[in-house]
Amino acid sequence: MLQVSVAIRFSTPLSPRVRDDGAVTNSDPSEGEADREWWRSAVIYQIYPRSFADSDGDGVGDLPGVTSRLSHLADLGVDAVWLSPFYVSRMADAGYDVADYRDVDPVFGTLADADDLLAEAKRLSLRVVVDLVPNHTSDEHEWFRAALTAGPGSPERTRYLFRDGRGEHGELPPNTWRSVFGGPAWTRVVEPDGTPGQWYLHLFDAKQPDLDWTDPEVREEFHDVLRFWLERGVDGFRVDVAHGLVKADGLPDWDHEQELLDGSDGTGQRPPMWDQDDVHDIYRGWRTVLDEYDGNRMLVAEAWVEPPDRLARYVRPDEMHQAFNFAYLTTPWQAPGLREAVVSSLSANRDVGAPSTWVLSNHDVIRHTTRFGLPPEVRAPNGIRAGDPQPDEPLGLRRGRAATALMLALPGSAYLYQGEELGLPEHTTLPDEVRQDPAWFRHDGGVAGRDGCRVPLPWEAGRPANGFSSTGECWLPQPESFARYAAGVQRGVEGSTLELYRSALGLRRSFRMGEGELTFVDGYPDDVVAFRRQTPERAVLVVANLGIEPVDLPEGARVQLASGDLDHRGRVPCDVTIWACPG
Ligand code: NOJ
Repeated sequence: MLQVSVAIRFSTPLSPRVRDDGAVTNSDPSEGEADREWWRSAVIYQIYPRSFADSDGDGVGDLPGVTSRLSHLADLGVDAVWLSPFYVSRMADAGYDVADYRDVDPVFGTLADADDLLAEAKRLSLRVVVDLVPNHTSDEHEWFRAALTAGPGSPERTRYLFRDGRGEHGELPPNTWRSVFGGPAWTRVVEPDGTPGQWYLHLFDAKQPDLDWTDPEVREEFHDVLRFWLERGVDGFRVDVAHGLVKADGLPDWDHEQELLDGSDGTGQRPPMWDQDDVHDIYRGWRTVLDEYDGNRMLVAEAWVEPPDRLARYVRPDEMHQAFNFAYLTTPWQAPGLREAVVSSLSANRDVGAPSTWVLSNHDVIRHTTRFGLPPEVRAPNGIRAGDPQPDEPLGLRRGRAATALMLALPGSAYLYQGEELGLPEHTTLPDEVRQDPAWFRHDGGVAGRDGCRVPLPWEAGRPANGFSSTGECWLPQPESFARYAAGVQRGVEGSTLELYRSALGLRRSFRMGEGELTFVDGYPDDVVAFRRQTPERAVLVVANLGIEPVDLPEGARVQLASGDLDHRGRVPCDVTIWACPG
């Protein structure tokens, strides 16, 4: 018989709330819906607007397209959506280069369309989180244009990181920093008088100049931008590159290559452009702004920071509410690593009273159904091309479903990326000539980049672009296989990935799986992740079998959810996760 271990026990408290009996709880029945800290256990679905649904046939998704498909998400059972940027942009980095933070880019629609989207989401009881990009603007932002015109020494330049170059004639960059997208992190400008002049810092593309967050005007401006969207009714912000806003004094040299979206840097030292202590003051200020508004508005940090206790500093009680758990996302499909990622995240967040978050896919990484189907020796953080080792698609899908069932059973909040509810794979054979990721260009084609996970969604097989657009236009071509994954093909079909997600989300809500305690269960082989959840509603046993041999369930256990078929003896086979209620 299996032994239940009491060695590791975690909870995800609301603002750390300790009951009289000493237990930490994540729920307070006296709270009404409006007061509830909904984000502590929410499932939040990421919409990448370019690729979700196109309403006007130009091949690029837009806000009316999103609005028209929100019922799909309400029906799926998520609590909230996060919209990647839809602001005015020259689209040098697919909208993460913002030229006007208070308006919608015409390719996505208008401010009125954003208001309609918010109203429809409210009608469907979906919360809306929008993206905020504070580390850098577009080079077409009026501030950057003014800085170029005004010249060296002007107040306009102090909003950005302009510096004189090194070398006799200033011909060398001010330091050795590298851009995350490849190449140097500095670009030299031509001064208004036509001479080669100062350099400006851009941790990403040259069209994304970094702001100088020591300038009070920059701070005030972003408080104002927060208020602009809070007043329009958004429920929160996903904060882009949250660990990058403050740079070390004097911008000391750092000549290591930057890994695209990797917090570790491989050196064991903290790089001077990431996770500087003073960045936390900024978020304390933002928290004060959010707290002026009712409705439990929230901030979630995109911060590629390690180790977990360093990341937890972003979610202290007076800072942000959540931070993405990239340590979990980057853990391979192996039981010991997953257990460790769960333990360390729950522990670090518990120490600051914040919920853990869980995520497997987003618009910057290879979709998890594809990652888990790659040969184990392949590490492919920067996209996959036709000539690279290709994934085993059925294996990846089987594991991807099991991984999702495991993730949605964890206490805290979970993030889904559009299309994963369909089991969509990465497009791993995109023709090079259609690629648009700046990382592809800045590496001169040396890395594929992120386009493969950004391919527009298939809604209805047999329609132009599988129902993404009415004309068949599609800003990135869909692979043939997408027809098989279309939402219409899966809706109502028992065993489909879409129905698995709907069941998991429905059970997660009714069992209140985002709340309560997690206790690992002893007695299973090392390559099985098994834990018991005690939620305010019930006890649930979760077993994810990452090993070869099928594993038994305790006698009388009633299986509520299974990511794949059990074997003929009712055992959990390889690469399947189940949720069961004890007998
Ligand atoms: C992180 C975003 O997720 C990514 O898509 C973007 O390229 C960089 N930040 C720069 O804004």
